[in-house]
Amino acid sequence: MVKIVEVGPRDGLQNETAPVPTPVKVNFVNALSESGVNEIEVSAFVSPRWVPQLGDAEAVFKNIRRRQGVLYSALVPNEKGFERAIEAGAGKISIITAASETFNCKNINTTTEGSIRRIRPIVKRAQATGLQVRGYVSTAFWCAFEGRIKPPAVMDVVKKLVDIGINEVSISDTIGKASPEEVCRLLDCLLPILPSDQIYMHFHDTYGMGTANVLASWDYGIHSFDASVGGLGGCPYAPGATGNVATEHVVTALAAKRAAVTVDLRQLARARRLLDPYLADDRRTMPPDGSPACEACEFVRGDNCCQRTQPS
Ligand code: HMG
Ligand code: MG
Repeated sequence: MVKIVEVGPRDGLQNETAPVPTPVKVNFVNALSESGVNEIEVSAFVSPRWVPQLGDAEAVFKNIRRRQGVLYSALVPNEKGFERAIEAGAGKISIITAASETFNCKNINTTTEGSIRRIRPIVKRAQATGLQVRGYVSTAFWCAFEGRIKPPAVMDVVKKLVDIGINEVSISDTIGKASPEEVCRLLDCLLPILPSDQIYMHFHDTYGMGTANVLASWDYGIHSFDASVGGLGGCPYAPGATGNVATEHVVTALAAKRAAVTVDLRQLARARRLLDPYLADDRRTMPPDGSPACEACEFVRGDNCCQRTQPS
């Protein structure tokens, strides 16, 4: 089974220049809940000084409608964030570290070693309450500050996370520069230390290789992917990075591989459209308005049409 973690409400909205209003975020999450994705990363309990766009995490969690079978998770950077996540009723948490020292210092204001010290008590407390924890390993391929990151650096961080009790990791191409060959090379190193069902892949799509990287990972037996509807996203502390690989692209590519993926593209389009009036730039995916791709779409004007601007 494919697992899709929809990170649009968190990764997708954390980099917007103007914060999206809370009720719009709530409607966005509610619409995503109807799409068939397995997990929605609803927000992040990070410092609002560092990421003001997600300063309303409590309010979003409080007001969403939770659908049975969907996991509503949150990103947390420290124990304070963990406590906020518990209070808000997050169903799972993701902690953050990276393979690049410089990125850790820029993003979470501590070294890699410092991040592990921060994460250790969170994992203990989560285990005591039965809450699942997933570990993000950012800059797993390239770093905006340090350049290419070699697989041993990633393996080292993954091993540290496993040693403190984390058994799911999200291998993250923060700046969206990885190639399928680099993905295969890293998975060759990781799979002997972590089973494929404990690995999620988190691709950004800056150089247009996100979908190819998902397919390369799939061929290596990875079935869990983070993605963001409409290709929204980017990390405010990773200059130059653009959005995540679009959920629509991941679903379409995996379906073409005959993977058991049951996400409804129409519902994803509905969810994405809710954000249209609030996004700073006009990023669009599948299909761009009025483009030849839209005109060629088999759904155009039919029941399944995503009803973006129609070709006249
Ligand atoms: P710091 O400034 O070192 O924190 O930041 P501090 O512990 O010294 O606290 C400073 C102030 O922040 C204090 O307030 C704390 O209470 C407050 P004051 O006493 O000065 O009024 N504070 C908090 N408030 C609310 N919630 C909290 C919290 N923690 C401290 N959890 C910190 C350290 C980790 C907090 C900060 O660096 C931070 O929040 N960083 C998060 C940055 C971020 O969210 N980046 C984007 C997410 S990561 C990403 O996108 C990559 C990913 O997608 C994978 C990939 O693509 O690579 C996951
Ligand atoms: Mg990301």
